[in-house]
Amino acid sequence: MSVLIKGGRILTAADDYVADIYAEDETITLIGEALDVSADKVIDASGKYVLPGCVDPHTHLDMPFGGTVTIDDVESGQTAAAFGGTTCHVDFIIQPQGATFAQALEEWRGKAEGKQVIDMGYHMAVTDLKEGGTLEELASLPDEGVTSYKLFMAYKGALMVDDETLFRTMEVAAETGALVMVHAENGDAIDVLVKKALAEGQTEPHYHALTRPPETEGEATNRAIQLARVAGCPLYVVHVSCKEAVEPIALAREKGWDVWGETCTQYFFVDYSFLERPDFEGAKYVYTPPPRAKENQAVLWNAVRTDVLSAISTDHCAFLWDGQKTLGRDDFSKIPNGAPGLENRLQMIHEFGVRAGRISLNRLVELLATSPAKLFGLYPRKGTVAVGSDADLVVFDPEKQVTITAASHHSKSDYNLFEGTEVTGSPEVVLLRGQVLVENDELVAKPGIGRYVARARFGKELRERVPA
Ligand code: URP
Ligand code: ZN
Ligand code: ZN
Repeated sequence: MSVLIKGGRILTAADDYVADIYAEDETITLIGEALDVSADKVIDASGKYVLPGCVDPHTHLDMPFGGTVTIDDVESGQTAAAFGGTTCHVDFIIQPQGATFAQALEEWRGKAEGKQVIDMGYHMAVTDLKEGGTLEELASLPDEGVTSYKLFMAYKGALMVDDETLFRTMEVAAETGALVMVHAENGDAIDVLVKKALAEGQTEPHYHALTRPPETEGEATNRAIQLARVAGCPLYVVHVSCKEAVEPIALAREKGWDVWGETCTQYFFVDYSFLERPDFEGAKYVYTPPPRAKENQAVLWNAVRTDVLSAISTDHCAFLWDGQKTLGRDDFSKIPNGAPGLENRLQMIHEFGVRAGRISLNRLVELLATSPAKLFGLYPRKGTVAVGSDADLVVFDPEKQVTITAASHHSKSDYNLFEGTEVTGSPEVVLLRGQVLVENDELVAKPGIGRYVARARFGKELRERVPA
């Protein structure tokens, strides 16, 4: 199978030029002006952008959480991703208590079997580390292509680990070349605040934010950074939501430490006031860290522009409002934490980042594709448009007008965080390893086309900072 994409404006993290792209057997083999080759499929991309398929480094598909299971499985979640121009993602395996990592990996790979629409890798969320068992086993995960360990510093009584587990994992990572990822919030302090609020009869969704003040995120971010320094491992802070967490990351990066951070699409658009929407609608916006005071949005835009934060993910963790979020109708702490978002990241950041003049097109590609690919051992196979890279490509129509709505999105969730938002610019054709996934607003490929990708260990190229 070969494909020729003609006359598109090719965008990478560094380049912006018009050329043809020819791909054969899954890989880009030629890039040049007016290529004189024939192909099984020819796509006219004149007037369109051609970007690398986006890489989402933070998703939760088919994951038990908050007394229920996320509504998107691998097939529906990856279908949503494909429509949004994401061709590879890294999902979280959650180690069940008492299980080995091998068992957890097998269980998660089973959930994906036959359902994959795009390529995927896994992070391992460590919940239960035992000497003479899982502590030693942790070191073997990078051999399976699982080259990042995730620790939750919050969700007490569920996923939260203590500092000993965090630090021991960091020590293993320093040896194995894995990247440590943290959900940085002070879970002990939050637990006290939640119990106090409930004892006072404060049960509505907005107490989710009031019991998780930004200082608890700032404190945990700083703690993780300092512990990573002691252990000598690289650190990636997920879903940064506020100034209090941006500041310690900025300081660490100024010092040249191996610290990176991401934020997620929703933190630029959804603020605390959404949680106060009446009739339990606020529950749609219960995710963690919570939507913050609006002034944090400018801080986050500035952080992604200046490479204080190096990636934008979705933290796609979708639930139904009706039937899942409603588990917490009488108690905000029982509302499953998470929201959908896999499909709309490129549209939203293009509209409000690029078209609004906050970031360049190159930076868009860097934040949504190149940096996640580099950080998570997928580059240069993924995350760029180059000879030798997988032909994961998005033909993006910068003029296409779309109204984002749950009525037409591909997640199984019954709501969309960005409902009614009008954007100009949307993926038109999406290719995975040279095969068309999405065209004419239809999923062309069949589930099963996607593959597991074994990721490389944390690379030295990451230590060379990506210019802003
Ligand atoms: O609310 C969220 N973010 N749910 C997913 C789990 C996590 O903390 O990332
Ligand atoms: Zn988290
Ligand atoms: Zn998450």
